[in-house]
Amino acid sequence: MSPSPEEKLQHEFNRWAQEGEGEKMERHHLDITEKTIGVMDLRPGERVLDLGCGSGWATRLLARLVSDGPEGFGQVVGVDISDEMIRQARGASKEFENILYVWGSAQQIPWEENFFDKVLSVESFYYYPDQDRALAELFRVMAPRGRMFILINLYKDNPYSLQWVDKLKVPVHVRSEAEYVELLKKHAFEKVEARRIPDDTPTPDDYVTKSFDSLEDLRAFKRIGALLLMASKPDLRTPAPGYTIY
Ligand SMILES: C[S@@+](CC[C@H](N)C(=O)[O-])C[C@H]1O[C@@H](n2cnc3c(N)ncnc32)[C@H](O)[C@@H]1O
Repeated sequence: MSPSPEEKLQHEFNRWAQEGEGEKMERHHLDITEKTIGVMDLRPGERVLDLGCGSGWATRLLARLVSDGPEGFGQVVGVDISDEMIRQARGASKEFENILYVWGSAQQIPWEENFFDKVLSVESFYYYPDQDRALAELFRVMAPRGRMFILINLYKDNPYSLQWVDKLKVPVHVRSEAEYVELLKKHAFEKVEARRIPDDTPTPDDYVTKSFDSLEDLRAFKRIGALLLMASKPDLRTPAPGYTIY
């Protein structure tokens, strides 16, 4: 039997983890993630999901911001389809009491409904085989009035990012900002917003890239930046379409 799309993702990202890509991604995504965390308005006591958490470096940034406070003890759940990423994330987070890493897929988020105040997902959403299904799952696990922040650096409006599509060993979705906004609205999210997050880290002249055709293309890619999608779950205790609360 041929592997399912999710088994292929798990296999591919386990390979990334074994080759040390988890740490490299921290370097590549830190600037845009810190800027995103800056607009998340995180408060101590909040419950946060890091979807597609990889080696957990962003999960740990989130955990520090929500830990102890007057409103209680905030917690962060990191979910990833790669069990090897989860193993590395757990190993690097031993001193955190408010992080739980769970192996699972965005297609079936292993958590209860109406739970998370905030969701962060960094450079993961375009890999999900069924983005509609993932959005229904996010809607289900988010608390009423919860807000999600999805960072995507492979999208039509940044033409330089399209250079990697053929280099990746798993299929990806390539949508535009307008198409993503439409998709989020279709799933009944409200306060849907999109903005660009440029990556301001310098690219040295001796930098070696396999992902881009030239350093000039890499610099142009960073200048245009990632797409940040933001959306809120309405203040209703209703399930997403297709779900029943028993
Ligand atoms: C490019 S990496 C980004 C990881 C991390 N967010 C970071 O910035 O370092 C994409 C991550 O998404 C995870 N992923 C891909 N498809 C997934 C799915 N269907 N459900 C959950 N995680 C998934 C991969 O295993 C991988 O760790």
